[in-house]
Amino acid sequence: MSNKESKVISIVNQKGGVGKTATTLNLGYALSEMGKKVLLIDFDPQSSLTVCLGYDNTDSLSTTIYNLMALATEEEDLPEKEKYIQKIGKLDLIPCNLELSAIEIALVNVMSRELILKSIVDEIKSNYDYVIIDCSPSLGMLTINALAACDSVIIPVTPQYLSAKGLELLLRNIIRVKKRINQKIEVDGILLTMYTERMKLTKEVLSIIQDAYGNYINIFSSMIPTSVKVGEANMKSKSIIEYDPKNKVTTKYVEFAKEVASL
Ligand SMILES: Nc1ncnc2c1ncn2[C@@H]1O[C@H](COP(=O)(O)OP(=O)(O)O)[C@@H](O)[C@H]1O
Ligand SMILES: [Mg+2]
Repeated sequence: MSNKESKVISIVNQKGGVGKTATTLNLGYALSEMGKKVLLIDFDPQSSLTVCLGYDNTDSLSTTIYNLMALATEEEDLPEKEKYIQKIGKLDLIPCNLELSAIEIALVNVMSRELILKSIVDEIKSNYDYVIIDCSPSLGMLTINALAACDSVIIPVTPQYLSAKGLELLLRNIIRVKKRINQKIEVDGILLTMYTERMKLTKEVLSIIQDAYGNYINIFSSMIPTSVKVGEANMKSKSIIEYDPKNKVTTKYVEFAKEVASL
């Protein structure tokens, strides 16, 4: 445990399939290899992160982030950490299952409903250098909870799915959260994922992002290429960094993690 304060990062984009989960897993893995103590929180009811880390049958998990959210909503104490934190190698995980999708409705009448995840994270973050939250593809109450609970956000975007409008909508929501709920929130940067160098589109997209946001938002200089090995690693319940240490995606995620650690 370093003596630096812990940092809570949300990996966010309301678009699905842009590499949020891959980024959460690989950033977390790379940071833990650098000797950092890392907790990952799966905060997407689709539970891809939990599945990627080897929990095929998420329904059988006895304690997930859903249960913690439900307890926090009732202002009840959380169980012992050992009950809800899964250890996978050097990484810690609070897993998720589909039940989390029920929480948005359950929160409707709850006081300070934006702050439920924050109350959980605040209780455990001092044990970690980094807490990384894998967000769901929406701008609903789950994502607002993640934005309220974090110190900063990282926004993965792919060349295919980058609509300036989508990014603008996300940034507007972050600004709103900053004004009303979480003054300290910062955008660490935009991470370009799944790019192919040959793609003309990629270059166009990159220059669009740089023109539109480069002046006031960091664009990480590490950019994550596409490799089929990412899917293979998933099927083996491994980070690509562990599965294929020489892969170009591995190299870039490790570089990216160093950028994040140096912020
Ligand atoms: N760099 C990459 N190269 C190839 N496939 C990738 C890469 N990153 C992610 N993928 C794959 O793309 C899909 C979407 O990625 P994922 O991280 O689940 O996105 P999100 O969490 O934003 O929905 C997954 O099948 C994942 O395995
Ligand atoms: Mg995901």
